[in-house]
Amino acid sequence: MSIQWEQTTRPIEETAELLGVFHFSSGPKGGLPLGGAVARLDQHLKGALSRLLHQEEFKGKIGETKLFPTYDRKPLNYLLLIGAGEAKKGTLDTVRKGVARAAKEATRLKAKTLALELPSLTRERSTAVVQAAVEGVLLGTYRFGRYKSENHVSPLEKVVFTSRQRMAPAAFNGAIRQGEKLATATNFARDLINTPASDMTPRVIGREAEKIGKLPRISAKVYGKADIEKIGMGSFLAVAKGSAEPPVFVHLQYRPKGKSSGIVALVGKGVTFDSGGLSLKTAQSMETMKDDMSGAAAVLAVFRALSELNPSVTVHGFIPATENMPSGTADKPGDIARSLSGKTVEILNTDAEGRLILADALTFALKQKPDLLIDIATLTGACVIALGELCAGILGNDDTLIRKIIAAGEKTGEKVWQLPLIEEYKEELKTPIADVKNVGGRWGGTINGALFLQEFIGDHKHWAHIDIAGPSWTEKDLDYCPKGGTGSMVRTLLQFILDY
Ligand code: BES
Ligand code: MN
Ligand code: ZN
Repeated sequence: MSIQWEQTTRPIEETAELLGVFHFSSGPKGGLPLGGAVARLDQHLKGALSRLLHQEEFKGKIGETKLFPTYDRKPLNYLLLIGAGEAKKGTLDTVRKGVARAAKEATRLKAKTLALELPSLTRERSTAVVQAAVEGVLLGTYRFGRYKSENHVSPLEKVVFTSRQRMAPAAFNGAIRQGEKLATATNFARDLINTPASDMTPRVIGREAEKIGKLPRISAKVYGKADIEKIGMGSFLAVAKGSAEPPVFVHLQYRPKGKSSGIVALVGKGVTFDSGGLSLKTAQSMETMKDDMSGAAAVLAVFRALSELNPSVTVHGFIPATENMPSGTADKPGDIARSLSGKTVEILNTDAEGRLILADALTFALKQKPDLLIDIATLTGACVIALGELCAGILGNDDTLIRKIIAAGEKTGEKVWQLPLIEEYKEELKTPIADVKNVGGRWGGTINGALFLQEFIGDHKHWAHIDIAGPSWTEKDLDYCPKGGTGSMVRTLLQFILDY
């Protein structure tokens, strides 16, 4: 079911069952700060709203909401005041978060219609605000329903936006469609991540890629185990050999309609389950390891959206997909693999598997001669220690590229923070019996992981590595993402490509 979006200049309280109104904490406190619909409602409620604001029961702080029944003011049943914090600090993410709260409230109240009075932000165009609101609704009401006997679909059928000035219909519809595309792609990634590992095997990743390959201007090539052997991806195969599920290597390609303005290569880590291999993880740290294909999910989701967004840049996507399992056929600590690049790798910890499969994927990606090379992976627990659950780490050899990705994240509300590639730590990747080993020293694990990957990018000058071990998964419900896979970086990568 898809939501119908409208804008109106009609009295908004006449358009929906629930009305969500943003209120900044810096607005006037006494009297009636809220204009239009809220003033009329206040009159209807004999001043109850203004009394509440006056007594500062509702301050308009970020994250604060207050629900009011409107008593016989049909069709409107409820008013939701949404705290928006300081007006000067209002961002698109304030809108996403506040709208998500309203949409979730509507779902809880079983309202089919939601009206929203969006704030105007000094630094943002009103189309961007509408787009963020659409994202807030669709991301906020996302639920992973595949294994639930009871249906959890949001009852929301219609969302109405009100503003003093009516937006040109083309601009309004454009903003709606853009928000829908970005949010739908993100929710698609969430579905892939939330699906249990036994149902989201490498072959299923391959099948999803084939489906995406049928979309306009996209092609997909899926390599099986025999192909991967023939290509010579020994580092990738070392990880795969412990598993009963065969590995898959995906190559997706998007070609723009007109002239291409450049080539971007995206590489996503697709470990569909990370047990650690013989360097086995603890039971607890394995619990969420179905999310170790979040980088792959991001790449698949990006391609699904590319076909609709039609940017003018060529994009290649590469996914090495495998399980990381312990077994009689598993790679053993101390084994040496020969990577596609020709470099040999001593595998001292089989749980540092992401870098092993990415090494070969990066080498393969370089053959397409991309202008930019970006890999995205749930690579290190150390990155979660360093930056927490809400922030991705980014490292690479091109500060301009890194700055652009961080800037794209500022637009989408996804936090990305740069960590340094410290050359001295490379010493720790040395081993007397192979060209490189897959683990470094005890400290700086995220940097060590990136330094290992750098061994495989040759002399490419524009490479960035995004470590999403933290933000790929959330243990608690966030404003616009329930517990589980988040679809981290889908919107940011798309934004980056659109801004390219
Ligand atoms: N998939 C994990 C990283 C991870 C940890 C993601 C926690 C999300 C949450 C990765 O394959 C891994 O196991 N990394 C090891 C590397 C170490 C052995 C050098 C780690 O971080 O402990
Ligand atoms: Mn691991
Ligand atoms: Zn892993």
